[in-house]
Amino acid sequence: MSTLDQTAVSSLRAEFPALQERANGQPLIFFDGPGGTQVHRSVIEAMRRYLTEANSNSHGAFLFSRRTDETIAAARRALADMFNAPRPEEIVFGPNMTTLTFNLSRAIERTLQPGDEIVVTWLDHDANVAPWRALEEHGIVIRQADFDPTDCTLDMESLRATITERTKLVTVGYASNAVGSINDVRRIADLAHQVGAWVYVDAVHYAPHGPIDVQALACDFLVCSAYKFFGPHLGALYGRYELLDALPAYKVRPADNDPPHKFETGTGNFEAQAGTTAAVDYLASIGQKWGREFADRFPGFEGRRLDLKTGMSAIQAYEREQCRRLIAGLQEIPGLRIYGITALDRLDQRVPTVSFTLEGSTPHTVAQRLNQANIFVWDGNFYALSVTERLGLEEQGGLVRVGLAHYNTTREVDTLINVLADMPR
Ligand SMILES: Cc1ncc(COP(=O)(O)O)c(C=O)c1O
Repeated sequence: MSTLDQTAVSSLRAEFPALQERANGQPLIFFDGPGGTQVHRSVIEAMRRYLTEANSNSHGAFLFSRRTDETIAAARRALADMFNAPRPEEIVFGPNMTTLTFNLSRAIERTLQPGDEIVVTWLDHDANVAPWRALEEHGIVIRQADFDPTDCTLDMESLRATITERTKLVTVGYASNAVGSINDVRRIADLAHQVGAWVYVDAVHYAPHGPIDVQALACDFLVCSAYKFFGPHLGALYGRYELLDALPAYKVRPADNDPPHKFETGTGNFEAQAGTTAAVDYLASIGQKWGREFADRFPGFEGRRLDLKTGMSAIQAYEREQCRRLIAGLQEIPGLRIYGITALDRLDQRVPTVSFTLEGSTPHTVAQRLNQANIFVWDGNFYALSVTERLGLEEQGGLVRVGLAHYNTTREVDTLINVLADMPR
């Protein structure tokens, strides 16, 4: 049976133009995926084709406009397949996750009363905190659930305590972009639904690392960004159709009143939608080639929906092994402290985003020194401001973040460990 292994990864790396780039004649190592992944060549080709063969505005009577309408419809079908959403009309496109979330928070605010409560968490990216905190000026009460600083996992007791009879929305990340922990979204959704609250899931960081199923998660909204899963800069939001239909939208009068159009203000980024469909098809192709062994996990799935689930499962299994190697290697380095889950028997509770500090060097210096070795990593708070604040790291420059993607190799992980081990302090 074919599995996604080093040989398979080297063959698919050849299909990513950016991964062939060099600096000073040396290869580049991309561990910056949590800030944005590189794109598959089919994504570039789909965008080129859209701009050559369909470039137009939507809803016109002529050929290019009809091709644009088909481009949009295809992208909705692709995302609905990726999320296992019942209907393509439940997919709303926007510039990015942050803008979509601000739009939705304003729409939801119009259904709330002063004194109503929204639960956010300390583990989230600020794009899933600030849009909800903005509602405080309308009398909405924001409660913030804590995380356990020892392993950086959400404190479920704290979450339970923040949910009350007045809670109208619980908003959580699927996985932390700062420390990699995965939240038990289904359990959180059940807790929220017990008091009649909706659940909003930020899946931006999780999306490149595992299968997503909005029906199994029982979430009401889920949002992510294609540029984090090998596509172009585009945000996509899933919302349950009845909710999207019922929520008031800020829109211009001539625009369609039905979901999803009523939430898509102005002209969309159609070339990015074309590229996003290609990115989804690329992930499905991984399922076809290397995901067959996971098919039993997804009874009732077929076609692209099945290929996406098996493809993301293959990616998850491959990344877990790389993550094991990365954590084990980092733990050998004196003065290096990892923030997040490190137990090798708990790797199913995290994505392969591993953040750390190194005694004697600021995170920024470490990132700069790694850059000298052509290794790309991020440093700082990655906009997950409440995480670095809660860990007391904000004043010291935050964390160094190594984000693995499925296109990273064992050799790249080993190179990183060696460079870090030899790094002057
Ligand atoms: C977990 C998480 N949520 C939200 C965002 C914001 O996404 P966008 O750039 O699409 O607004 C990011 C971006 O890094 C992220 O990692």
